[in-house]
Amino acid sequence: HEPLKIALLGAGNVGSQVARILTEDAEMLQARVGARLELVGVFVRRTDAEREYQLPGELYTTDAEALVDQADIVIELLGGIEPAKSLIQRAISRGAAVVTGNKALLAQHGSELYRAAAEAGTQLSFEASVAGAIPILRPLRDSLSGDRVTRIMGIANGTTNYILDQMDTTGATFDDALAEAQRLGYAEADPTADVEGHDAAAKAAILANLAFHAPFTLDQVHCEGITAITAADNEAAAEAGYVIKLLAIAERITTPGGDGADSTEGAVLRVHPTLLPRQHPLAAVHGAFNAVFVEAENAGELMFYGPGAGGAPTASAVMGDTVSIARRLVRGGPGRTHTPQATLPALPVGDATTSY
Ligand code: HSE
Repeated sequence: HEPLKIALLGAGNVGSQVARILTEDAEMLQARVGARLELVGVFVRRTDAEREYQLPGELYTTDAEALVDQADIVIELLGGIEPAKSLIQRAISRGAAVVTGNKALLAQHGSELYRAAAEAGTQLSFEASVAGAIPILRPLRDSLSGDRVTRIMGIANGTTNYILDQMDTTGATFDDALAEAQRLGYAEADPTADVEGHDAAAKAAILANLAFHAPFTLDQVHCEGITAITAADNEAAAEAGYVIKLLAIAERITTPGGDGADSTEGAVLRVHPTLLPRQHPLAAVHGAFNAVFVEAENAGELMFYGPGAGGAPTASAVMGDTVSIARRLVRGGPGRTHTPQATLPALPVGDATTSY
């Protein structure tokens, strides 16, 4: 089979690791796909910047559109809404497949992009957008598609879990723990998105989309971050047998109808610091690890656990999507897209469960 042309948009923490894997593991990838994955260029804002993994200089370009236009698969790791959104739309309209880790974009404009990909008969994959290396979106979309998910509780932001864990276990200050999370490459470029809960809220919207087969958006997620948590809060929680975790929760709520009326269904989506009993499986998630606890009608309780942030782990999820798309391009067969059904209203947070 002819080589498949890969365009990489972004060469930050994750983009650099994707470039490394495409280069160093080229033979392994070729064996798995049945065609060579040829990196044709990397869109960057500055071609002369120093990078974690340095490719030959001629691969870097500031002309994103020209790069997208020659690709079979576009890997978008720019973050933020624009120019990511326009470039993804451009790729889709040309029939190219897209892999993205862009949670902010999907949480706001996912439905529009999923629809565009389905209409163009191409694929849009985004496993890397939630919980780094942990395979969680594919299980929700595929493995559990014959079941009814009732609740998801996730530690979906590595930076805030790292900060809360350091404060709880070593007595570190909030500021020192945040600085360390930034140094380790977990935090967003603007760490406000982490500590104010916005990053976790975007992930809650994406998880709820897949779990409940509905088009939820970021503005339907009640959101409170961890900036008000103090050492005294941690101590009080510990004394009472609890630990404070920032959870992203999506919950299906059924309200019985009175007077013979049908019961109604909705979902509550929220991110806030939560008191978890120390024996809860999510309480054992330390450092920048993530975990997603899923409750489903027939499956019961499941937990998905692993590295939720950082360059190489997130690049692993990007590469999984890329290989899977590339295999379909080589061997044929229909791709899968997420097709939400607008059936589940978002309910006020007051309707939610408050004990775990
Ligand atoms: N800043 C994010 C986190 C990166 O800390 O989890 C992974 O999405």
